[in-house]
Amino acid sequence: MVTHAAHDVRREDAIGAPPTRPTRVPAARYYSTEFARLEEKRMWPRVWQVACTVDHVAEPGDYFEYRCGPISVLVVRDGGGELRAFQNVCRHRGNSLCQGAGSDLQELRCGYHGWTWDLAGALKRVPNRKGFGELHMSDFPLLPVRVDVWERLVFVNLDRDAMPLAEYLEAVPSDIAWCRLSDFRCYATMTVEVDANWKTIADGYSETYHIQTLHPELHRCMDDVFAPQRIWGHAGKSEQFYGVPSPHLREPLSDEDVWDAYVTTQGALMGVEEGTPFPGCADDMTVPDVIAARTREFAESRGVDLGWADTEQLMTLHQYNVFPNMTLLTNADHLTVMTSHPGADPERGELVMYLWTRMAPGSPRTTPMDVRMTAAEAHPGLVLTQDISVLAGLQRGLSQPGFTHLTLSNEERRVINLHRNLERYLDLPESDRMTGGEPGDAP
Ligand code: FES
Ligand SMILES: [Fe+2]
Repeated sequence: MVTHAAHDVRREDAIGAPPTRPTRVPAARYYSTEFARLEEKRMWPRVWQVACTVDHVAEPGDYFEYRCGPISVLVVRDGGGELRAFQNVCRHRGNSLCQGAGSDLQELRCGYHGWTWDLAGALKRVPNRKGFGELHMSDFPLLPVRVDVWERLVFVNLDRDAMPLAEYLEAVPSDIAWCRLSDFRCYATMTVEVDANWKTIADGYSETYHIQTLHPELHRCMDDVFAPQRIWGHAGKSEQFYGVPSPHLREPLSDEDVWDAYVTTQGALMGVEEGTPFPGCADDMTVPDVIAARTREFAESRGVDLGWADTEQLMTLHQYNVFPNMTLLTNADHLTVMTSHPGADPERGELVMYLWTRMAPGSPRTTPMDVRMTAAEAHPGLVLTQDISVLAGLQRGLSQPGFTHLTLSNEERRVINLHRNLERYLDLPESDRMTGGEPGDAP
């Protein structure tokens, strides 16, 4: 048997202090067109959101079109190496200037009548300009969007008066500073079209309560009980220790069982194929120590030194949630970022997964491969596929006429926090707000 008493003692449980009663969230938020319009008007144009990665726009002339619902923002690395962002609209008659992503952009020329801007957003050319009478070029720059970078993530905010990104991210950057996130490079993004509201998608990566039911394999190799959570304001966090069986499990699991479950769910992280037997461990080692050692060896084979990372740093998943739609999951060897976006109507959305590899410090980027697919086509590993498979049925259930409210536990307080922030940005009247969740006695 694995002993993991040490971390049981250190960690508080995922529930924290239970409230006196559950939190009730109106279900209509997940399907009402009116509510989605309110989000489009009052929330999306005012929040910092991940648009792409530095690896997408590393060199002068690189560009990336970020879309989120009706929003389209162009992120561009200009000739001087400065990162810029613009609303993706031609100032003449409103055509979109650019689509997709690419390199070697010299200028932004509208494909309709040819108005042309430089990469700093200054209007340079207007064909047959005299036909407009007096038209001052300087009156028609591209409409700038705030852009900032944290580690290798590029964020945009359409609100010129928004608080700085560093302030918006609250304690997240300092909390994870030890992890050397700047050495990860993004190699791909996967955009999955889902029949679900963007919040239905985001809620799935905002709690660990579903692991015991939806992820039986994962449940055999991670501690979902002593998984402490923090809520700051826009941001929240969960910490989960891997390589141990869930304390929820009634039957004892052997070291071999835990190893097998880990290999099945995430063996690729240490380069171990399914079916590889447990190598065994010395008396003073635990299963997490063995997995951590394997992970270090695998990294070494890719030229990455993880000698600085102890078992705790390799086996604890630090999961951050940043309002409205981002989660970042990381340990010393691993980084995945996910976001969700509104789709064509409130019951459709997309899940975007940013996949990363830790590289030797200072490694050049390789331009990420951006792929798009339907939920049926997406197989991003056992656990994420389980997460995606539940979404359409969840969305259908949410809009059944008798289902008026979601009933949430304190274990789901990162979901509650999303709604708390949403209510603030939407400025909902008191009568439309969630109820319950009053603090109870400390456990
Ligand atoms: S709409 Fe762009 S030049 Fe006319
Ligand atoms: Fe999940």
